[in-house]
Amino acid sequence: MIQKCLFPAAGYGTRFLPATKAMPKEMMPVVNKPLIEYGVEEALQAGMVDMCIVTGRGKNAILDHFDMNYELEHQISGTSKEDLLAGIRAVIEKANFTYIRQREMKGLGHAILTGRALVGDNPFAVVLADDLCIHPEEGVLAQMVGLYRQFRCSIVAVEEVPADETHKYGVIAGKALTNSLVCVEDMIEKPEPGKAPSNLAIIGRYILTPDIFDILEQTPPGKNGEIQITDALLQQAKTGCVLAYKFKGKRFDCGTVDGFIAATNYCYERFCSCRPNGHG
Ligand code: UTP
Repeated sequence: MIQKCLFPAAGYGTRFLPATKAMPKEMMPVVNKPLIEYGVEEALQAGMVDMCIVTGRGKNAILDHFDMNYELEHQISGTSKEDLLAGIRAVIEKANFTYIRQREMKGLGHAILTGRALVGDNPFAVVLADDLCIHPEEGVLAQMVGLYRQFRCSIVAVEEVPADETHKYGVIAGKALTNSLVCVEDMIEKPEPGKAPSNLAIIGRYILTPDIFDILEQTPPGKNGEIQITDALLQQAKTGCVLAYKFKGKRFDCGTVDGFIAATNYCYERFCSCRPNGHG
């Protein structure tokens, strides 16, 4: 039902310099797979086939990754290493990839608005690939698609974070509908210490209805002079409905060194350490 998944991937990744000086943050490998491939797999699992990627300067490795490399294919054809390409081959087979460039880094809201030309007048998902989400049975996007079927409105995934970390996130407040669902009434981007309306922080998974684009067109620059998706979503919540969903599963903020290392250890323990030689 939701076919399109937007990946804003134009950011500079300054928290991970110097690794991200010439390499896109989204291509950093957790064990042996780039972050963005985990995101695409999650979208495929949720039934989406059109991957719409917002890129910028220096991001060409993403385009190459989701394309055939004939020389490499030829080189390893018939060898034991072929297995290592099985996962990415399957992804390339199943998904369509389209790209658009964000010329100026004017914030996440602006990156999403840039994706309008790819998404059109359809409800769509958004994945911030540096938030790696893991659930053994049902990925976070699949969980959210189930909710979208029921409620047909924008949905943001949220997680409870310690009070001294709320300033790093968009933070929501509202009326609890169930244990895991809140009807959003307020939303603040990176609130000052002590000013957060709750400890429910928005993480990098969204389902958005397409009216968000017209709202984003009218949204002035907010926190840090950037066009913030949080400001547009608050507007949507005031005139319609936005839900916040406490997802099932684990999330790692791989945009930070600590989160990235935690994700690597977790994935290595879970998916690799039982294999011969520890190779995933
Ligand atoms: P981040 O806040 O993680 O920014 O953006 P960043 O630039 O990637 O990383 P730091 O903070 O400098 O370390 C959240 C998501 O929005 C995208 C980023 O690529 C990331 O996936 N983004 C952000 C854009 O695509 N364009 C922008 O103008 C800003």
